[in-house]
Amino acid sequence: MNRRPWLVGITGASGTPYAASVLRGLIDAGEPVDVMVSQAARLTLLDETGHSVRDRHWREDLSGWLERDVADVRYWPVGDLAAGPSSGSYRTRGMIIVPATTATVAAVATGVTHNLVQRAADVTLKEGRKLVVVLRETPLRVSTLDNLRTLAAEGAVIMPASPAFYAGARDVAALVDFMAGRVLDQCDVDHDLYLRWTGTLGAARSGVEWGVRVE
Ligand SMILES: Cc1cc2nc3c(=O)[nH]c(=O)nc-3n(C[C@H](O)[C@H](O)[C@H](O)COP(=O)(O)O)c2cc1C
Repeated sequence: MNRRPWLVGITGASGTPYAASVLRGLIDAGEPVDVMVSQAARLTLLDETGHSVRDRHWREDLSGWLERDVADVRYWPVGDLAAGPSSGSYRTRGMIIVPATTATVAAVATGVTHNLVQRAADVTLKEGRKLVVVLRETPLRVSTLDNLRTLAAEGAVIMPASPAFYAGARDVAALVDFMAGRVLDQCDVDHDLYLRWTGTLGAARSGVEWGVRVE
């Protein structure tokens, strides 16, 4: 069976751990994934995690960063505008941009695209497929708000990287996983990245370890 992949575009906003958590969640759920990494994202990735993603060594680089088997991952160099995701005839389930920069948001909103992440997102929208945009920036210019509004009006799901604190997170990794879990919820991908709200105030803090209910 030829399963359609999720496209994941990583751009040069702070927050590359969100990308790692989303990718691990997709891989752990058995979802095929196509990965694209912008040039600026290579800088943020190196700065925030110490990891590199090189076009020629992407397999070992991604598996080292994600600590996962990347057999079901396909990688496209961001400068390869002839890559599969640059065409609407390349079938995908949709695309997640995580983290998303204001620059990439502007490019996709205006349709003036300069790299494969931007083009693939443009294609995702024109084909009416799911586009999830995990923006990381603060504060926001009016132009960015306008661009986000444009994307939302075209059906994109705008998810500012703003994790919630109600799920009892005890460390930053848990907050990152919460955000990634909310992204995967939008994609209808099963995961156990965070503890869901049960309707009981304080439940996550009393007698519940992160992701594991303590009897
Ligand atoms: C260390 C570092 C952190 C950055 N953080 C952000 C950020 O949080 N949000 C953002 O929109 N841009 C951020 N930028 C700026 C973008 O990387 C820059 O606008 C770049 O041109 C975006 O290109 P891309 O969208 O193709 O990745 C950051 C840049 C660096 C070097």
